[in-house]
Amino acid sequence: MPDAFILGIESSCDETAAAVVRSGEQVVSNVVASQIATHQPYGGVVPELASREHLRAIVPVVRQALAEAGQTYESVDAIAVTQGPGLAGSLLVGISYAKALAFALDKPLVAVNHLEGHIHAVLLEERQKGNRELQFPALALVVSGGHTHLYLATQRNDLWTYENIGHTRDDAAGEAFDKVAKLLGLGYPGGPVIDRLAPHGDPEAVRFPSALIKHRDRRGRKDGRAVEDASDEERPRFDFSYSGIKTATLRYVEMHQMRATIEARRQALGKIAKPKLEDSLAHCDQNTLDLIASFQRAIVEDLVGKTLAAALAYDVATLFVTGGVAANQELRQTFEREGAKEGLPVYFPSRPLSTDNAAMIAAAAYPKFLAKDFAAMDFSAEAGMVLR
Ligand code: KG4
Ligand code: ZN
Repeated sequence: MPDAFILGIESSCDETAAAVVRSGEQVVSNVVASQIATHQPYGGVVPELASREHLRAIVPVVRQALAEAGQTYESVDAIAVTQGPGLAGSLLVGISYAKALAFALDKPLVAVNHLEGHIHAVLLEERQKGNRELQFPALALVVSGGHTHLYLATQRNDLWTYENIGHTRDDAAGEAFDKVAKLLGLGYPGGPVIDRLAPHGDPEAVRFPSALIKHRDRRGRKDGRAVEDASDEERPRFDFSYSGIKTATLRYVEMHQMRATIEARRQALGKIAKPKLEDSLAHCDQNTLDLIASFQRAIVEDLVGKTLAAALAYDVATLFVTGGVAANQELRQTFEREGAKEGLPVYFPSRPLSTDNAAMIAAAAYPKFLAKDFAAMDFSAEAGMVLR
């Protein structure tokens, strides 16, 4: 099989991205236009603004990805695009452009699930490093601003299938980072700033109750596992819940009269275009830093604890941790340390491929390209797309 160069396009949330990947194993170019500056004043992603920014960025971003790869519209072998899940209006920008390119250039079009993309970011980079010894089945934790999902990933005849064995019942882990950062006047997105500030606080200072899950069907198990319905009875589930810890943080802020210092911090940091660690540190007292460190520790312990319990229950050979929150320093270290204790190899994407990008979309498209699993021209965005 000769090399296949796939142009990937990603526009599901607040990043407009395009990349060229060779045969699912080499990132030839990877361009990401972030909209952080646009959404920052609102403390979160504003869907209408996101679509508008994608429209503005998509053509130059694709052009740059092709130019950096030494490719042209004509020379690539296929076009891959994120179909969902994500913001419908944002997804449509990428999909419409990908369809137009595929139609005009007479190229195959591959539709990719964004979550599958995050999983393939790990596979892509391991192949790129020359690691072809990955053992399966693998358990993948996809942990981002929109998702905290556990998938068993298996490969049959080069095609991948996924079984969801856990997800968040309310907020995603990244969403909790973002909301707590907003609550503390630290700006948007919250994950990176909390990641950098946490080592300056005492993670044992504030005790958060472990994120217990309330089950809709009241048939949850004491160990944190849940049972979805009778047909799943034999397949244990490992669900997450992060709205409780967010509320506990809010309660701590109220009880310790932190509102005035938070407001002062919000105003001060709001005047700085791109606050650095020193700027954030200069506006945080020790109590706030301790709260941040304790919050992060609670989230990390919950993510690692449940994921390892799931890995043992399903007797997997390998663990993948991917998605924006996988960039978190403490999460990586804790997974590596605790995984090693269980003899379980843990793989992460590099930081640039942890957060949203299009290289992961082009990589996930490669097996579908080989299998000629192409999208019909009338396919549309699926905001709530499920991964199977
Ligand atoms: O995968 P991603 O770029 O977009 C989604 O698919 O959601 O993830 C973005 C999320 C945001 O919630 C952001 O705060 C979080 O990932 N994030 C982090 C870090 N970097 C990004 N969370 C914790 N630590 C980080 N270093
Ligand atoms: Zn993502």
